[in-house]
Amino acid sequence: MKQLYVTTAIPYVNGKPHIGHALDYLLADVFSRYKNQQGNVVRFQSGTDEHGNKVAKKAAEAGKTPKEYADENSAAFRDFIEALNVHPTDFIRTTDKKHIELCQKIWQKLSPHIYSATYDGFYCEGCEAFVTKKEFDDNRGVCPDHGKPYQKISEENYYFRLSDFKSEIRAKIESDEMKILPEFRKKEVLNLLDNAPDVSISRPKKSLTWGIPVPGDDSQVMYVWLDALSNYLTVLGYPDADISDYWPPALQIVGKDILRFHAIIWPAMLLGLNLELPKVLLSHGYILVNSEKMSKSLGNVIDPVEILNLHGPEAFRYFFLRHIDTFLDSDFSLEQFETAYSSELANDLGNLVQRLATLCNKNNLELIYEPRTELPADYSSLMDNFEYKKAFDFAWEKVQNLNKRIDSEKPWALKDDPEKQSDILSSLAKELLATNILLSPFLPDTSEKITKIFTNTPIKAPDSPLFPKN
Ligand code: MSP
Repeated sequence: MKQLYVTTAIPYVNGKPHIGHALDYLLADVFSRYKNQQGNVVRFQSGTDEHGNKVAKKAAEAGKTPKEYADENSAAFRDFIEALNVHPTDFIRTTDKKHIELCQKIWQKLSPHIYSATYDGFYCEGCEAFVTKKEFDDNRGVCPDHGKPYQKISEENYYFRLSDFKSEIRAKIESDEMKILPEFRKKEVLNLLDNAPDVSISRPKKSLTWGIPVPGDDSQVMYVWLDALSNYLTVLGYPDADISDYWPPALQIVGKDILRFHAIIWPAMLLGLNLELPKVLLSHGYILVNSEKMSKSLGNVIDPVEILNLHGPEAFRYFFLRHIDTFLDSDFSLEQFETAYSSELANDLGNLVQRLATLCNKNNLELIYEPRTELPADYSSLMDNFEYKKAFDFAWEKVQNLNKRIDSEKPWALKDDPEKQSDILSSLAKELLATNILLSPFLPDTSEKITKIFTNTPIKAPDSPLFPKN
């Protein structure tokens, strides 16, 4: 049976998760829940990227083997995903035996497009990227993302002939056959594509020991990005398994920093394998702290577990899906998070539910509720175009309108006209339940609680508020 396949970037295991890692999972989860709601079956991959010198060095610093270190951090990512109330169908580790075997088979399938040559140039270990002379010059020899000088390397490598596919990739991006979101990133990618050289896809074992051996050449190890990108296929069992039920991916989610790997190298690999390109590549922005990138050296890295412990997963999901833009960089601060929690979640939604359910209960109201199957067209259009923050705003405006309606229609003042009171309360409760459906991909637990409260006989307010104020 045909399924919708959604993927997330697989983080390096050179550290524990930080709040920036949440976006991939939350956006994929909203997609998955929304599509499930509409009767689709969704295959949802996630996992961890475990090879490369970056990981090996961190492991050595911690006095551990790379595998021990990867085990610990991979488990931390897995726990983090669950803690967000996100439930991928698959979790792949690039050190899994199956991934390694399948990745080697992918290499073999790509071999008509592979040749060996000397790489004389620069490398950024932070990005795990080969750096062109132009990038080196533009950035004066220092990686702008990692603040470290590029390494000069000269080594015998295998190359992938990107030039075989550049014009086809360009055509598919331009025609939106592979749609890049947001639109302005598409232009950036097309500019990069023009200047993209063939890609080096291996490194000598002496420079990179922690990686997948190149089949048939023991002296070389696969470049980590080739290994990592293959995960989207190997998790489905490709090339051994038939993947036609899942391929092409309906949506691939990545941060803006790694879009270029996914919009250039990845499509070239797929064309080399005679596979279709993903339908949509969504690139989200960065979560900043006081307008700065989180980094260990600045000491501003925020541990997501601390934030989750403050008010639980629903509050976390609320902030990261509504106050962090889907596509652009956005700031996180504890103050903004606390304000959003108390004045929006607790006041706008929590109080609304409490107030309305209490009034309905006093009126002994029972709802004959038929869930509306059709979603508002504006909301569907936003959701179908992956404008998740805007769709969430749309739903929240309905919450705010309900508060306004209660205040202006004052159902509590109609004790002498129970019939009218009952009509108004029932109309408000039905509207809340309809709004609740729009909220459910974003706030699944809250939404479930609201459904239970208002479909109970009789309607009954929860004993404790949905979002307690400490
Ligand atoms: N291992 C690669 C991805 C390979 S995918 C085949 C990698 N890992 S990462 O750990 O650096 O990043 C994982 C994801 O987290 C990426 O989508 C990246 O953009 C995202 N983010 C990392 N820091 C971020 C923020 N501060 N804000 C938002 N997302 C960020 O790249």
